[in-house]
Formats: sequence, C-alpha cells, structure tokens
Amino acid sequence: LTVDWDAGHYDTGGYEHYLLKEISEQPETITRTMSGRLDERFHVAHLGGLNMDARETRSFRRVKIIGCGSAYYSGQIGAQLIEELARIPSDAEPASEFRYRNPVVDPDTLYVAISQSGETYDTLAAVQELKRKGGRVIGIVNAVGSAIAREVDGGIYLHAGPEVSVASTKAFTSTTVAFALLALHLGRVRDLSPADGRRIVEGLRRLPGHVEEILAQGDKIAELARKYADHAGMMFVGRVRGYPVAREGAQKLKEISYVHAEAYPASELKHGPLALIGPEMPTVAIVPDDELLDKNLTTLGEIRARGGRVLMVGHREPGSKLADDVIVIPKNEIELDPLLLTIPLQLLAYHAAVALSRDVDKPRNLAKSVTVE
Ligand code: AGP
Repeated sequence: LTVDWDAGHYDTGGYEHYLLKEISEQPETITRTMSGRLDERFHVAHLGGLNMDARETRSFRRVKIIGCGSAYYSGQIGAQLIEELARIPSDAEPASEFRYRNPVVDPDTLYVAISQSGETYDTLAAVQELKRKGGRVIGIVNAVGSAIAREVDGGIYLHAGPEVSVASTKAFTSTTVAFALLALHLGRVRDLSPADGRRIVEGLRRLPGHVEEILAQGDKIAELARKYADHAGMMFVGRVRGYPVAREGAQKLKEISYVHAEAYPASELKHGPLALIGPEMPTVAIVPDDELLDKNLTTLGEIRARGGRVLMVGHREPGSKLADDVIVIPKNEIELDPLLLTIPLQLLAYHAAVALSRDVDKPRNLAKSVTVE
C-alpha cells in the first residue's frame, strides 16, 4: 500500500490553524482534482479510475449518492450537477440512514460513496451492503488506499492532500469538482452538447482564480463574522443549488463555533421557521444570479419585514432594503455556483470560531474520522 502524502504537508504552514491553511489551499487543491482529467479538444473528462467503458457508462438509469455529514451535503450538490448535465435522475442520502433501511439495490443504478477519510464506518457499511447485493459502487475519496477506496469497484481520488482540521473544507470543494467531472463524463456520453461541455470545462478552469478572489475578501468576512458571531442562532437559506450550500454553511458554523444554526430551503420558511425570524436570529441567504434570483430577493424582503437581519452571499448588491451586508463572489457557470458560494461560508465559520475562542481544529465532541457506529 502506498500513500502519496509526505509529512511536510502536516504543519500549519505559518497559518494560525490547520483550518485556515486548508481553506487557503483550495485554489491548488481543486486544481489537483482536475489535473490531467479535462480534455479541451472533445470537452470531456477522463476518469480512468472508474473502470467503466462507454457502453457501461451509458447504461445507468439512476445515480444514488451516499455519504455522511458534509460529504452528504456535497453529494446533494453532486446529484444536482448530474441531473443538470447528464439528465440522469439522481439523489443523495445520508449513508448512515441508507445502510439501516434494507435498501432496494437496482442493477441500473450507479451508486457513489463519498468520503474524505475513506474510513467513515457508516459509509463503509453502506458500501459493503451494496456490494453484497450486487450493486455497482464507485467512490469519491481523498485518502488513498483507505478502507472505502479498497472496497469500491472504481472511483475518483480527490488528490486534495491530508485534511487535518475536523471541519472539512478543501475535501468538500474537491468533491464538488469531482462531481462536475463525473457529470461531464456521464453527460458527454449522453446528450450534453460539445458547446455545453466546453462551457463547463472552461468554467472549471476559471474556478481556482475565482476562489483566490473570494479568499482576498478574508478581512471583510472576518469583520462580518465578528459582527454576527454573538447571536445565539443563525438561519441559513438557499433555493435548489443554494440549498446544499446553506446546509453546509450551517454545519460549518455549528461544528466549530457552537453557534446554533438551521438550514432551510428559502421556499420552506413560510411553512414554519419564519416564526423564528426576528432581530435576534440573523439569516445568511445564498442568492446566486440564477433563474431563482427574483424569488430569493422576495424572501429577503419577507425576512427584513419581520425585523430579521440579512447577510447575503451572491453575485450582486441587492440594495440596503433587502440585505444588511453582502459578500459578492465572482460569476462562473451557474452549475458551478455552489462551490464558490461555499467559500465565504467556510471563512465566516472560521472567523466566528476564532472570535468566540473555540478550539477551531478540534471542536468538542467530534472526531476527524468517525470509525464507530
Ligand atoms: C465535516 O465538517 C464534518 N467533520 C463531518 O460531517 C464529515 O464530513 C463526515 O464525518 C464524513 O467524513 P468523511 O468524509 O471522512 O467520510
């Protein structure tokens, strides 16, 4: 067994915490995930590790994605990417639930297991259950030679390097890139046009520079984190592509700052959680410039009308009537928006945890690899 990481990667590299180092590394780590896999001539992705020929790649009628915690949220982004680009019905489910419900395993479904560590017991047990029932399982895994990587039929390694901090950041964004590659691969053997393939390939190539632009706003985001960190709770909302981003943002905040955070689809607010909104419960709203922009802006108005404060993350300034604060990110292709929208939320959680003097890299009660049931 060989592991392609050396011990030199394990210091904080001059950063105060591993978490900040890992957030800052993302322009390089997402580049590594793409490296050697993008074909500019035919606008396809080369994923030899899947061990599948074109006929097999075309044969799947569904994609089912499993993972735990942040890996599951990245799976929700992945399911949307595959549906949008390859038009294959796809969904994600926590591996910890999947394994206990005696799942129907279908030969026409491609199963995808996600794990940074490759050792998460619930995900491994779900993979083993799938294999026992004859399911075709691929892995999206960071740790080379890990238990899940050994168990699956093929897969995509992230090549993000070791992730030390308990909170997953660079593995999350690399997993999103891996899903974009998988969606491109599945799409281009189906109906994704060369023009759309080119659009995604070019968008992926622009991502590292766009991540740099967001990281350069670190001081501003730190200031916002200090402003919002002293609230007992925060609401995160987003629609469709923005919803898994909201879930990941809430997860990061509660995990490392211990501030209570809820994530809801923005459309669900009026079905219950709107009762929580008031000056004491600010909202982080994920509002990309996509086909749902107007609906999202209406939601901001509804929150503000109830005295709620709004921190918006999106592509434009909506005016002070709709948001108290705005983090503007660069525009890429809409399918890739979730990756870039996630970066400010990582920085927000990090700086909130620092402001509250939390143990940033080793939050209480949590382990990096959950190898128990
Ligand atoms: C992420 O910030 C968490 N620490 C946690 O949800 C993690 O993503 C989950 O435990 C899955 O880990 P894995 O990717 O190593 O399987």
